[in-house]
Amino acid sequence: MERLKIGAATAAYQVEGAGGGRAPSIWDTFAAVPGAVLDGSNGDVACDSYHRWAEDVDLLAGLGADAYRFSVSWPRVQPAGSGAVSTGGLDYYDRLVDALLARGITPMPTLYHWDLPQPLQDAGGWPARDTALRFADYAAAVHARLGDRVVRFATMNEPWCSAFLGYASGVHAPGVQDPVAAFRAAHHLLLGHALGAQAMPGAQTGIVCNLYPVLAEAPEFEPAARVVDGIQNGLWLDALAHGRYPDVVPPEDGHAEDLALVRGSAAWFGVNYYTNHRIGPAKPDSELDQLMFPGAGEFGLHPRGPLTTMGWEVVPDGLAEVLGRVAATLPGVPIWVTENGSAYPDAVRSGDGAVDDQDRTAYLRDHLAAVERARAAGAPVEGYLAWTLLDNYEWAWGYTQRFGIVEVDRATQDRRPKASYHWLARHIAASRP
Ligand code: FCB
Repeated sequence: MERLKIGAATAAYQVEGAGGGRAPSIWDTFAAVPGAVLDGSNGDVACDSYHRWAEDVDLLAGLGADAYRFSVSWPRVQPAGSGAVSTGGLDYYDRLVDALLARGITPMPTLYHWDLPQPLQDAGGWPARDTALRFADYAAAVHARLGDRVVRFATMNEPWCSAFLGYASGVHAPGVQDPVAAFRAAHHLLLGHALGAQAMPGAQTGIVCNLYPVLAEAPEFEPAARVVDGIQNGLWLDALAHGRYPDVVPPEDGHAEDLALVRGSAAWFGVNYYTNHRIGPAKPDSELDQLMFPGAGEFGLHPRGPLTTMGWEVVPDGLAEVLGRVAATLPGVPIWVTENGSAYPDAVRSGDGAVDDQDRTAYLRDHLAAVERARAAGAPVEGYLAWTLLDNYEWAWGYTQRFGIVEVDRATQDRRPKASYHWLARHIAASRP
């Protein structure tokens, strides 16, 4: 078995900032809505990686990273979401790719990590079929510039979130609550992936999904758990593997033709993994959870502690389980763990003032061990990317959650590796022949 490649991941809106004249995306619009983001913050500055990218590459090199997954900002590259492509916007990624390659780090760009150009939302967003066609044009433009050096691209990041947090529960941009629109968005995200893959000849194009083990806490919750599993996991896996949807997806004209394109369109598969879903009785605050899974009815999510500061249960075995499911569903398709990580308070510091995050270190260690178990059981997992390199903008949670293995001082932008970074660097070094 080849050695597991290890690195880290980020996303454009969460780290870059708006430098360089980036055009607005749905996240700029959403973040400006009072109450939409917990601390009222936005991604205007974030980690200012638009200017500080060379420092970030140094941090990756210091880690000994084999690969870096970043995302390309669609509104930076194609400000109106269609038509003119910004050469200056592409220059940024061109420099980043060259700097990574010069340090022996494989660049793994994701083309869509949630920052839809606002003009495309004004024209209907993901529920509109045209958005999938626009995505393919944008993918072609990025590939034309980077495809001579980048082999492995991902199209969509966590299309479940784009569709069901964006258009069903409305806790993510664009903040819509319309289940019919959410299912249409899901379909067009998959179609966009398939058309994008076709528009990048010669590339190895994959898709990144967040999959969760779903458990019913008692037999009466099995029907709800079945729907949750169908929307969270089955929808994406069945479409990609078999060209059909599970019965939780309302049928629509044209699905079959589109799904024929989706089937087999993932040259590799990215798994983002954080936690599981335990399905039990509804609680007073279950309404938003129910909206994320249209058709699941009355239920509540019941994570078991100790929890991360996101309220997520820590379940390393679930990662092995999910990897086994992907391997069984998409035989022969190489798998990457494209995100895995944890938010903790980072209250403990060592004598020299650096964050001593033993909790995050243990999370990484235990999940890396789960990946190795899945590999030993036959899952073709090629790589593991820690979420995330830097403390950054955590979407609707703003800057209140820290997932980084490197601390970022919000006032000065100074970057400081935490204990987890040093642990991961030692782990990578020890894994090299
Ligand atoms: C995933 C996202 C990523 C980050 C982590 C914590 O859902 O892909 O951008 O927010 O969760």
